[in-house]
Amino acid sequence: MKASPSPLRVLSGIQPSGQLHLGNYFGSIKPNLDFQGKADQSFFFIADLHALTTLQSGELLRQARRDIVLDYLACGFDPQKSIIYFQSDVPEHTELMWILSTVTPMGLLERAVSYKEKVSKGIAATAGLFTYPVLMAADILLYQANLVPVGRDQKQHLEITRDIAVKFNNTFGKAFTLPEPLIREDVAVVPGTDGQKMSKSYGNTIPLFGSEAAIKKAIMGIVTDSVGVDAPKNPEKSVVFQIHRLFLTQHQQESLAEEYEGGLAYGEAKKRLLATFLEHFSPLRERREEYAKKTALVDEILAEGARKAKVIAEETMENVRELVGL
Ligand code: ADP
Ligand code: TRP
Repeated sequence: MKASPSPLRVLSGIQPSGQLHLGNYFGSIKPNLDFQGKADQSFFFIADLHALTTLQSGELLRQARRDIVLDYLACGFDPQKSIIYFQSDVPEHTELMWILSTVTPMGLLERAVSYKEKVSKGIAATAGLFTYPVLMAADILLYQANLVPVGRDQKQHLEITRDIAVKFNNTFGKAFTLPEPLIREDVAVVPGTDGQKMSKSYGNTIPLFGSEAAIKKAIMGIVTDSVGVDAPKNPEKSVVFQIHRLFLTQHQQESLAEEYEGGLAYGEAKKRLLATFLEHFSPLRERREEYAKKTALVDEILAEGARKAKVIAEETMENVRELVGL
């Protein structure tokens, strides 16, 4: 008899640490949304405990938590189809993190690129920042997630998660499913307005829910080369094109590329990108305003999400506690 396939459990988290930008949307939110309703279970949580490693102001974190929930709901996360919750509302995350940290080799964390990068950017080198990947492993393993859609920058964290899971399973007995990362190569790195990776820490973002003026300013400020106004442009080298294509079908991309090659002026190309952006995100912006007025409903969605998440987290923890002897 053929074994029945294991259920598809998709999970992803996002830190509430600033305004959501186009890189977050195409690199994380959209790929996650594409799974909603297709997976047997989808989990989307707000990694507020992770955010504490960089955002250390009660007032700012409270605000960022509120904002990101509205952003998520506006983008189309549907509490009927997905489990949406705050990481800190399910204390099993931190309990499991501690247990996992006792089987995590120091060398594994010492090799983590993201820690070194963050420290080199001036973020305080705390124990929390160093053990960040262990908390991330707990986030994933707690729910036996088998698929984790992320941007390429998170790939190493997924490898660390798998290593920790194997180490635990070998030491104590099988408790965890090994998760696979899902990295969408076509949108793996969304460029920012200066051509580097779009990131809030580089100040090169196009905010999804910023004011129209802020969005316009960001788009009109995208770097271009000094090719003449009517001269042919190479779309592959144009940051404006690289961003615009994310919104387009293959066919639309090809015809826009032809216009670039035919000498489309950068100013005009940017105006078109702005129009596409606003058209794409207007319904989301409206939905966000609606949710912003319904605080009680939003609180209820999160409480319900945490309750559902906790049921699954507890199943895993009962097994883990039993295996380790607690
Ligand atoms: P930031 O770089 O702005 O600090 P985060 O690290 O909070 O963004 O990223 C949140 C999610 O969005 C992650 O899954 C990350 O992979 C994805 N992401 C962020 N920036 C980009 C980008 N420029 N291109 C693709 N995905 C991105
Ligand atoms: N580290 C991720 C980021 O910065 C956020 C995150 C925390 C996450 N826990 C996770 C992503 C679990 C996927 C799965 O983007």
